[in-house]
Amino acid sequence: GLPEYVKIVEVGPRDGLQNEKVIVPTDIKIEFINRLSQTGLTVIEVTSFVSSKWVPQMADHTEVMKGINQYPGVRYPVLTPNLQGFHRAVAAGATEISVFGAASESFSKKNINCSIEESMGKFEEVVKSARHMNIPVRGYVSCALGCPYEGSIIPQKVTEVSKRLYGMGCYEVSLGDTIGVGTPGSMKRMLESVMKEIPPGALAVHCHDTYGQALANILTALQMGINVVDSAVSGLGGCPYAKGASGNVATEDLIYMLNGLGLNTGVDLYKVMEAGDFICKAVHKNTNSKVAQASFNA
Ligand code: HMG
Ligand code: MG
Repeated sequence: GLPEYVKIVEVGPRDGLQNEKVIVPTDIKIEFINRLSQTGLTVIEVTSFVSSKWVPQMADHTEVMKGINQYPGVRYPVLTPNLQGFHRAVAAGATEISVFGAASESFSKKNINCSIEESMGKFEEVVKSARHMNIPVRGYVSCALGCPYEGSIIPQKVTEVSKRLYGMGCYEVSLGDTIGVGTPGSMKRMLESVMKEIPPGALAVHCHDTYGQALANILTALQMGINVVDSAVSGLGGCPYAKGASGNVATEDLIYMLNGLGLNTGVDLYKVMEAGDFICKAVHKNTNSKVAQASFNA
C-alpha cells in the first residue's frame, strides 16, 4: 500500500539553479529559499560547497547559506563532495549535508573527478567528521537508472554503492535518475535489488523528467514503500556534467499527484506555485510545471 505521509525534499535552489546558464543573483536565491521556507516544505537543499571552477552557479554558497532565514521546522542541507567542502559548509552554518556518489564509473570521473572507490574514501572522511559534530549526512547515488556515458546501469551496481553509503552512516540514500531515462519497469527492478540491502524507510528517489517518466517512476517507488521524494519547484534542474539531462520532477506536479492520492505532505501547493512563479520570473523562464501552467492559464 501507499505511505500516509510523503516527505518532499526540495532541491530547486541547488539542483535547479546549478544548471541555469545565467548565474542567479545571490539576493534572488536568498529570497527564493525564504519563500520556499514558508510553504510547509520541511527540507530545502540550499547550495553546494563544490569548486566554483566546476560549477560557477554555486560559487556564492557561503553568502546564500549565511543570508537565508532558517525557519523553525525546516532543514537546510547542502552538498559537500569532500572534506574541504564540508569544512566550508560548516563554517557557513550548515547543520546537514549530503555527499554525492554515482553507480557509474564514467559519471563519477566526469562529475567529481575521481573513481567510485576514491569517492567512497572521501565520503567516509566527511561522514566521520560529520558524526563528531552530530551532523546528519545524506548520500546520493547518481545514474541509478542510466548513465549519460555508459548507458544502462545494472541494479546490482546501484545496490553496491547504496550499501556502501548506508553502511558508512548516511541516514538516507537518494537514488538519482540523473538523466531521466528510467521507467516504472526499471525503477521497480532497481528498487527490488536495493531494498534487499536497505530498508525503504532509509531510501529516497530523485527523478529527473527528461523522458516524461518521473511521476510514474515516483508512484512506483511509493507503491514499494518509499516515502521520501526529491523534486524542484517549476521543474528546474539538471546536472552540468550530464548533458541532455533536463529538470527534476516539478514540486507542484508532485504535490498535485500526492494530494489526489490523499497522501499528506504538509506543503501548500498554492504557495509553492507562487515561489515557482517568483524564480521563473527572476530567471526569465517559463515554468516546466504542468500544474502551474494549467493553474496560471485558468
Ligand atoms: P578536483 O579538481 O579533482 O579537486 O575537483 P582537487 O581536490 O584535485 O583540488 C583542485 C582544486 O579544487 C583546488 O584548488 C582545491 O582547493 C579545489 P586550487 O588549488 O586549484 O585553487 N577544491 C575545492 N574548492 C571548493 N570546494 C570544494 C573543493 N574541493 C577541492 N569542495 C571536486 C573535485 C569534487 C571539487 C570537483 O570535481 C567539483 O567541484 N565537482 C562538482 C560537481 C557538481 O557539483 N555536480 C553537480 C552536483 S551532482 C548532481 O547534480 C546529481 C544529483 O542531483 C543527483 C542526480 O540527479 O543523480 C545530486
Ligand atoms: Mg539531480
